[in-house]
Amino acid sequence: MNKVDIGIIGAMKIEVEAIQAVMEDKKERIISGILFISGKLYGKDIVVAECGIGKVFAAICAEAMILTYNPDVIINTGVAGGLSPKLKIGDIAVSTSVVQHDMDTSPLGDPLGLLSGINIVNIPTDDKTRESIVKAVEELGINCVQGVIASGDQFVNSADKKQMIVDTFDGIACEMEGASISHVCYVNKLPCCVVRSISDGADDDSHMDYPEFCKLAAKNSTAVIKAFVQQYK
Ligand code: ADE
Repeated sequence: MNKVDIGIIGAMKIEVEAIQAVMEDKKERIISGILFISGKLYGKDIVVAECGIGKVFAAICAEAMILTYNPDVIINTGVAGGLSPKLKIGDIAVSTSVVQHDMDTSPLGDPLGLLSGINIVNIPTDDKTRESIVKAVEELGINCVQGVIASGDQFVNSADKKQMIVDTFDGIACEMEGASISHVCYVNKLPCCVVRSISDGADDDSHMDYPEFCKLAAKNSTAVIKAFVQQYK
């Protein structure tokens, strides 16, 4: 098994291809249908995978990455819908914790989002990793907001759903993989952080511009990951 320093997971090609393009000594391996590319970036051993969209693909990818490459930390990167008015298109949301907004055993008396078994709603982010990422974002001069990132198997595009996630979980951004990857890292006692650039407003009309803004957002999240890897000790 090849041990790496950092594991990076994005759901879509656009979220990982610019990182994979600048890696050296690349080796490819397909596990459970997911392409993992390991190699060097700025002298660090990293592995980068495109997991596919949604929480199940993300969990498959995170577990396979941990068992195969044994990274010291996993970062989930990519784009997200903005829930906080402080986040505009292209800005960066960094997780302080993550939640699964579609997890609901409330008919049994549980709070919304409770992850049965581990009995928490918010999965905490690794502080050291979060601080290094925030430093990298600030050095790039991109606006950065830290807070709760909410994941669910749903592209959020309604004011009602958006409000529910804000009111219930105090979410600043929504996406479809981060909390799943963090859940896998949590049970494996591995540091994890979610870093997302805003591609849309997660409301009734802003998703119309999603294809265009997605490219800009993916460019920004990729730049942050490169800067993080460069500074990583
Ligand atoms: N990824 C990017 N925008 C999103 C949204 N509005 N909902 C879920 N995932 C997203």
